[in-house]
Amino acid sequence: MSSAGRDIAKAISHLNAGELVAIPTETVYGLAGNALDSTVVTKIFEAKQRPAFDPLIVHIPDPDKIQTYAVDIPQAAYDLADVFWPGPLTILLEKSQSISDLVTSGLSRVGLRCPDHELTLELLGYLSFPLAAPSANPFGYISPTTAEHVRRQLGNRVAYILDGGSCKVGIESTVVGFENEQAVIYRRGGIDRKSIARITGKTIEKIVSSNPAAPGQLTQHYAPRKPMRLGNLDELISEKGNRKVGLLLFEKSRGEQIEKILSPSGDVNEAARNLFAALRALDESEADIILAESVPEVGLGPAINDRLQRAAATSI
Ligand code: TXA
Ligand code: MG
Repeated sequence: MSSAGRDIAKAISHLNAGELVAIPTETVYGLAGNALDSTVVTKIFEAKQRPAFDPLIVHIPDPDKIQTYAVDIPQAAYDLADVFWPGPLTILLEKSQSISDLVTSGLSRVGLRCPDHELTLELLGYLSFPLAAPSANPFGYISPTTAEHVRRQLGNRVAYILDGGSCKVGIESTVVGFENEQAVIYRRGGIDRKSIARITGKTIEKIVSSNPAAPGQLTQHYAPRKPMRLGNLDELISEKGNRKVGLLLFEKSRGEQIEKILSPSGDVNEAARNLFAALRALDESEADIILAESVPEVGLGPAINDRLQRAAATSI
């Protein structure tokens, strides 16, 4: 089992040796390795049991590096980077030759992101290569928002876990690209659509359930092992039969024995921060089935509801 701590020098030496290190970001923990080394990239896919058609995000220390790893960069991409980096935004751009087809799963675009976490920014600043990093969970399972989550699931697949505490955003980055000079959101995430549109003008969303052109947005994702349903809680509870339920609630308690409240103050940002840890706790609880309600469709609400829908989609 790998060790965990705040030792950047240790993380650097493992990464320089071609090993994998779990890194903290503001969104979720990443399973990181040298993005420019094909052997390492292959190791990431293997460790995560991730299908080869699902590309990896490349993490860079500052916006200036865009030009090293991408070409034909539209002005709007620079504008987005200016405003939101470091932060929970991944920008899809035509890849430069330094990025291999392995990282992008054969697609012509690469996803670039400058994460907003002190430790990881410092780490990236010392490295001579960018870090390819998917979320540090086994493919399809709930994303990790603490070092302990990573240790329990992938602890034997990484050389070191850089422990940066709990992730302050709690859901993955928003993925944005451009088609005919129009901004397109492919994954809802830590920056809401309105904030993106303020910079780029009109945006469209192409949030698909299962399409190799925008992989990772599979219907079945972020899923607990227990069956999960999303919808009207009164109805869901009335159908529970003799099963023990675990409730995932937005704001108010329902007085059930097993329940997790995402934000007692009714704040969607707080709900995002608590989402994956709450899902995980319910998955590990005594409950036979997880019942969840949607959160309000404001701010990060749509991104949270997207995760809830995908988490519930595995359950038939
Ligand atoms: O917040 C995040 O983005 C976290 C942290 C660790 O940075 N990373 C993350 O990575 O969520 P991952 O691999 O779990 O999800 C990345 C998703 C892919 O599944 C895919 O949908 C999209 O980003 N993506 C990445 N590169 C892409 C590309 N070249 N073309 C289309 N979609 C891409
Ligand atoms: Mg993921």
